[in-house]
Amino acid sequence: MVLCSTFSTFALMIIPFSPPYIDDSIIAEVTDTLRSGWITTGPKVKALEQEIQNLSGAGRVLCVNSWTTGAIMTLRWLGVKAGDEVIVPAYTYCATALAVLWAGATPVMVDSGDDLNISVDAIRRAITPRTKAIIPVDIAGWPCDYAAIMALVKEPEVVALFQPTSPVMERMGRITVINDSAHSIGSRFSGRFSGSETDIAIFSLHAVKNVTTAEGGAICLNMPAPFDNNQLYDELRLKSLNCQTKDAFTKSKAGGWRYDIVGMGMKANMADVNAAIGLAQIRQYDKMLARRKNIFQTYDDAFSKQPWGLLPSSCDGCRESSYHVYALRIKGISEEQRDEIISLVSQQQVAVNVHFTPLPMLTLFRDMGYRIEDYPQAYANYAHEISLPCYPQLTDEQVQFVVKTVVETVNTVVSRA
Ligand SMILES: Cc1ncc(COP(=O)(O)O)c(C=O)c1O
Repeated sequence: MVLCSTFSTFALMIIPFSPPYIDDSIIAEVTDTLRSGWITTGPKVKALEQEIQNLSGAGRVLCVNSWTTGAIMTLRWLGVKAGDEVIVPAYTYCATALAVLWAGATPVMVDSGDDLNISVDAIRRAITPRTKAIIPVDIAGWPCDYAAIMALVKEPEVVALFQPTSPVMERMGRITVINDSAHSIGSRFSGRFSGSETDIAIFSLHAVKNVTTAEGGAICLNMPAPFDNNQLYDELRLKSLNCQTKDAFTKSKAGGWRYDIVGMGMKANMADVNAAIGLAQIRQYDKMLARRKNIFQTYDDAFSKQPWGLLPSSCDGCRESSYHVYALRIKGISEEQRDEIISLVSQQQVAVNVHFTPLPMLTLFRDMGYRIEDYPQAYANYAHEISLPCYPQLTDEQVQFVVKTVVETVNTVVSRA
């Protein structure tokens, strides 16, 4: 490939897409847990919940074993069932809609805006008396317009349309907003943080996320009165432990064997050995986030000079991203050209990705009757998008190599058209 010769100074640079950030402090925290004699849910999980609460400003935080289980558990607590609808974007990761299906309701997919996030107008058009919840998604770490979405569900005409189908919904009296904050730990909105602005928000702590516990999630509780978020924390914590009245720690004490099962819970708790990884990461998150921002700025500087560069939203007067994924879009190309660019960039040992294949293009959802033709902006976003590596361990030299590889490859493919 001709491109190789121009990269001789970088000699076979292998750049993975999103390796976990592991340093000595993380290894020490995990080792401390292993040596402590207690590796499942316990003090490290509690400490991580407190750190995430401090970082996000959420009313209360419960750690679980993934975003997905956290979302299923939350929707089941809300009481959604067959016939109920939950609005989700068509442009997201499958888990957003799968959680709705597992909870027994119908995902109603709507189109996105040019900023990759769910369109508030499309949400408005999709609301019916069957709508029980909305799950907006902060794609790539860019916060949705929380203020507009929260204002929408409180509009008198929207409230009047609401028909509760569970005791929790009756207490709520309106549509519940459960934000998919899988990508957005540390994102800002109007001087506050992702996790604090919607009724409920759930972070993913999966291995590729900005803060990870290998697998994990964190449910942020900001339910309005008459709900009590401390009491809700206790309720959801019990649900995450099979509704068993004694946790494993208490039960392991001499004489503590007897317990009861008081509901149909799930096994969704996080283990201390996982929490230890996240705990050591979140303590240095400021530094990690600053490096991500710095890489974003380098990419922005480089790609803004290209006539084909459509840069991801990252900062305006109200919002600031968590810089989770650099979602570059290339103007004027076809899906096939995008695929060719990815293939050529990959041959240069730079791992890139696409966020996301819209759900209606995936077999499960297509077979359920969702059609990509109904989501033109989601398709356009997908067809032009290439996600570039962005993580604290990247060196300046690697970032420059990514820039050079992408610019040369795009120019080659575009000039051939
Ligand atoms: C937007 C979005 N939502 C939900 C999830 C699911 O997260 P988890 O793997 O923690 O269940 C992901 C995971 O990548 C995601 O990208």
